Amino acid sequence: MDKPSTTISDLKKKRRMNALISPTLHEIKFNEFVLFILEKKMGTTRRAFLMELARRKGFRVESELSDSVTHIVAENNSCSDVLEWLAGQNVGDSSRFELLDISWLTECMKVGKPVEAIGKHQLVIRGSLTSNPSPKPAKTPPLATKEVSQYACKRRTTLNNCNQKFTDAFEILAKNFEFRENEGICLAFMRAISVLKCLPFTIVRMRDIEGVPWLGEQVKSIIEEIIEDGESSRVKAVLNDERYKSFLLFTSIFGVGLKTSEKWYRQGFRTLDEVKADKSLKLTKMQKAGFLYHEDLVSCVAKEEADAVYLIVKEAVRAFLPEALVTLTGGFRRGKKIGHDVDFLISDPESGEDEQLLPNVIKLWEKQELLLYYDLVESTFEKTKLPSRKVDAMDHFQKCFLILKLHHQKVDSNRSKPPPESKTHEAKNWKAIRVDLVMCPIQQYAYALLGWTGSRQFERDLRRYATHEKKMMLDNHALYDKTKKIFLKAESEEDIFTHLGLDYIEPWERNA
Ligand code: CTP
Ligand code: MN
Ligand code: MN
Repeated sequence: MDKPSTTISDLKKKRRMNALISPTLHEIKFNEFVLFILEKKMGTTRRAFLMELARRKGFRVESELSDSVTHIVAENNSCSDVLEWLAGQNVGDSSRFELLDISWLTECMKVGKPVEAIGKHQLVIRGSLTSNPSPKPAKTPPLATKEVSQYACKRRTTLNNCNQKFTDAFEILAKNFEFRENEGICLAFMRAISVLKCLPFTIVRMRDIEGVPWLGEQVKSIIEEIIEDGESSRVKAVLNDERYKSFLLFTSIFGVGLKTSEKWYRQGFRTLDEVKADKSLKLTKMQKAGFLYHEDLVSCVAKEEADAVYLIVKEAVRAFLPEALVTLTGGFRRGKKIGHDVDFLISDPESGEDEQLLPNVIKLWEKQELLLYYDLVESTFEKTKLPSRKVDAMDHFQKCFLILKLHHQKVDSNRSKPPPESKTHEAKNWKAIRVDLVMCPIQQYAYALLGWTGSRQFERDLRRYATHEKKMMLDNHALYDKTKKIFLKAESEEDIFTHLGLDYIEPWERNA
């Protein structure tokens, strides 16, 4: 019997090869881009596959680095890798290319059309390349980034973290040292996390972090390990550490800090069930509430829920002070989509200081059965006092830490899905939400807003900068110029940055 000369699999193979050789087989839908995919560190097969895939989706992909190429896509290459490679290609001014990481192409493929290239996709910021033209790049040019300041308040840190792989690892290590009350090393890791978050590129080799502040030997050796092995053995060890695991559980309870965790751990407890089972334990009112609403409180607050809480807070506050300012602060003001609580700053331009507002709001919510827990802290402010010297000092405003009952129907139903309604009568139709309310005099509003917007690392560095670079003292109430011996007035956050001689950093750029 004669074998057919071509089998189906042969045909398929031929079609595949044809597609690879002849890009015109696919209709070009997106003319504004001409892609070139770098083979270096990617390999021939994967490159061919990606080229075919992109062409099939309507992208124009060149096999050679022709004059028409606009975007170069690379995988596992740092900016300097690509620049180095480009330098050997005789293409003249390399700044005309947009250098993008494979993650950009992957996202485009997913949605079947070009997505906007943002920081995390860019191997280099275009501006810094063009402003620094180098006719003949050195063999391994340094990363084309501006100098990174040692102060978080001089860096712009958005939520677009290109180095999450590294920062996640350091968060775990920092937490472990916090649990072991080793503040020095904890802070060192926090600073490393903070600085890594502002880098506009993903670190792929040690060369990329040359000159970046706060990356000591210990930090560097972990970064190197993660680059090489994809994970850190130290992080793995911590994740398996008994003390770490127990402390993580214990501190997840509202009202439980290091002291209580330490006590429980010493008493031999390892899990929350073990703690709960011991009826002889004395719990504070806060911890009781913490256990009662634990499940809700550990499931993060979504932006939609924060918006719903904002309406409730505003309505309650305005019932007593119609002109009051109610401002969402904390992580949500920095653009975060989730948080552990919702923070508000309240100020009344009319009455100045109204000590009765928060007690009134509490009474109202109690009547409405919305209040699950509260702790009202009275103001301890003395007008003549200088700003605190401590970097992490609590402020003196009257405030209330509370747990609010948020009914599912109050949350914008189009955007978030409450759990399906159950038919039984007792079905829980609300979620417990942690809320912080801070009341401040209008004259201190700008300082309080700056202080309560965070991030914590950003705030710490603002104070450190004021002290060490400006001979000034900053806290959530005021800014004091030690040279001139005067308090500096501010009507807005911009005013405070100006007093400090800093460029204004928008709230969403303060995610240090
Ligand atoms: N803050 C403060 N004094 C306190 C507590 C908080 O000045 N006693 C400030 C901190 O600068 C912090 C901000 O208020 O950055 C908000 O605090 P917090 O809610 O703990 O952190 P968030 O940044 O909002 O993060 P999360 O999403 O986890 O709530
Ligand atoms: Mn918060
Ligand atoms: Mn808070």
